[in-house]
Amino acid sequence: MNTQVILEPIDVENFRDHRGNLDIAELQFVEKFETKRIYYISTVPAGQSRGAHGHKELKQIFFALAGKFELTVTDGSVFETVELKAHDKGYFLPAGYWRDLKEFSNDAVCLVLASEHYDEGDYIYSYDEFLRWKNHG
Ligand code: TYD
Repeated sequence: MNTQVILEPIDVENFRDHRGNLDIAELQFVEKFETKRIYYISTVPAGQSRGAHGHKELKQIFFALAGKFELTVTDGSVFETVELKAHDKGYFLPAGYWRDLKEFSNDAVCLVLASEHYDEGDYIYSYDEFLRWKNHG
């Protein structure tokens, strides 16, 4: 059952044998999503955070390929925080949310599938501006 309000969990199936690990996520249950870009974040120093911005149109899917980190998302009133761990669930984030990535383990690798090419105009870097955009946009 999906108890998340904003984030949609994506199950990851694990195959383990003497040859190593194989992890698979089927995306057919996610809202129409075409991956136009991927990026990945790694080697985040202890105590550093990433993100801290909103996106107007961009939809994203997050996975931890290694280690773990926390993803917090909000529309300005509802806040949701999940921990992403290697070999565990990914999360789909719809368009129009603010997001923060924190508590990275040393070995964490965060993979993001993005629905659009990089567009600086889609970012909102000020939380106050994000709230104004949410309320009046
Ligand atoms: P930034 O948005 O600060 O990364 P994060 O969300 O992980 O904190 O991006 C860092 C720099 O990388 C910034 O100058 C913009 C650039 N960038 C691209 O050119 N293309 C991309 O797809 C992304 C995600 C960032």
